[in-house]
This record gives sequence, C-alpha cells and structure tokens, in this order.
Amino acid sequence: MMKTVKTGGARLAVEDVGTGQPILLVHGFPLNHEMWSAQIDDLATDYRVIAPDLRGFGASEATPGTVSMDQFADDLVGILNALELKEPVTLAGLSMGGYVAFSFWKRHADRLGALILLDTKSAADAPDTAEGRRQSAQAVRDGDMENLISGLMGKVLAPATAVAQPAVAERVHAIMASSDPVGVSAALLGMAERQDWTSSLESIRLPTLVVVGSDDAISPPAEMQQIADAIPGAEFVEIANAGHLSPMENPKAVNAALRAFMVRVA
Ligand code: MLT
Repeated sequence: MMKTVKTGGARLAVEDVGTGQPILLVHGFPLNHEMWSAQIDDLATDYRVIAPDLRGFGASEATPGTVSMDQFADDLVGILNALELKEPVTLAGLSMGGYVAFSFWKRHADRLGALILLDTKSAADAPDTAEGRRQSAQAVRDGDMENLISGLMGKVLAPATAVAQPAVAERVHAIMASSDPVGVSAALLGMAERQDWTSSLESIRLPTLVVVGSDDAISPPAEMQQIADAIPGAEFVEIANAGHLSPMENPKAVNAALRAFMVRVA
C-alpha cells in the first residue's frame, strides 16, 4: 500500500507491503520505487517490503537546491520512524541507492541489520564527472531533461535487454521521463558532492551482498567485485543477461539472490 510520510520538510511516498523481516529497497537515479516492482511482488509474500520514492522522485515532493546522499539517508530514517519500524532493516540500494546506503550505514548504523549493494560504486565522482553533473543539473533546470535521459538510456541496459525486452526499455524511459526536473537537478548536485567510501568498506561489519549485472557498463562487475572483496565476508553475485538495472532486466535471478540472502541473514 502506498503511504505518505512527512519528514525533513517534505512529503514522501512509500510502498509498504507484506509482513515479516523488513527489507528497504532504495531506487537508482532518475527512477522511483517502480523499478523494484518485480522484487516488491515477489518478496512481499514473505517479507515486509518498504520501497520509498526518494525526495524529488516518483510521488515524493521535490525540494530545490542540492539534496545530499546524507539527506536521502535521513529521509529513509524519517520514513522508518513514521512507519514505526524500530527493528534493524536490510537495506538494498541500487546505484544512487547504493550511495545512499553508504550514508545510511555511516549515520544510522543502529537501524541497519544487513546491506545489499546493487550496481553501485564506492568511489566519489572524478572532478570532470562532477562538473558534468553540475552542467546536466543546469540543463535540466533549463528544461532539457531529454538529453540526460537519452544519454542514460544508451548506458543503463545491457545491449541484449534493449533488443529482447523492449517493454523494459520503454518502462525505464517512462519512469525517467516522469521525474520532476527539480528533484533530478537536486540529486545530480548531491551525487556530484558525495564522498568516497572506498577506504571505509573494510569497516563494514554487516552481512553484505553485492549484486551486479554482468553487462553493467556504469558499475562493471570487476569494480563491484573489488567492493565485495573489501567488505569482510561479503558475498558477490553476478546476474547474467542484465546491465546496470539488473532488478528490472533479470528479475528472476535478482529475486533469487535477494531471497537466498534474506534467508541467511534471518
Ligand atoms: C543510478 O543508476 O542511480 C546512476 O547511474 C547513478 C549515477 O549517476 O552515478
């Protein structure tokens, strides 16, 4: 069921469905909780699935300026509090959701029982990447979202997905195109200033699963393997027939990996 929560000065939308051990699904950029629909449907039969729209995405209110990864993480705690969910959650974050997961781990460790990092990076942006994001943020504020979206559409899916699963490509495009330019710009500025977590990975003391699409061109398997190698005891799963949006491209394999992990961390 979709709920609305007021936290940190914004009205945020969150899907809260199922009962049992809680799993918090944090979407990537510039998407919303709908990217997890196959996971929500599957996992909610055995778990409590909480899938918010981050500030500025989906049905959640946008706030102008910069929205930092820390702000997104604090919003998640605000949502958990509003849902009266006090027990530690398993947090699964994809890409930008992974950057938020690192902030959440640093700031709200007591609320975290396990971590799932999908198709994400521990490194900060290189200076030219950060500058590119600031320019994109300006372009988006000036009314040009399509340039950003078409650039992303060329990168986020495995080449085979675009051919074999046109409905997935259409869905991704539709979700991106529905995003509020104010929220997109704010998240771009937030990602540009995010911190580098690479040297912190060895301090993570949580059961951790690292998941990557075998054709992920944005956070490639070799880079994600390094993240898994650096986190003590982390498990690594590579998803065949998937790029950067593995939960949408190969939901069956991602669901199986998440379920196996949830059983282990119970
Ligand atoms: C995402 O999928 O969230 C983006 O690729 C993150 C990014 O732009 O770094």
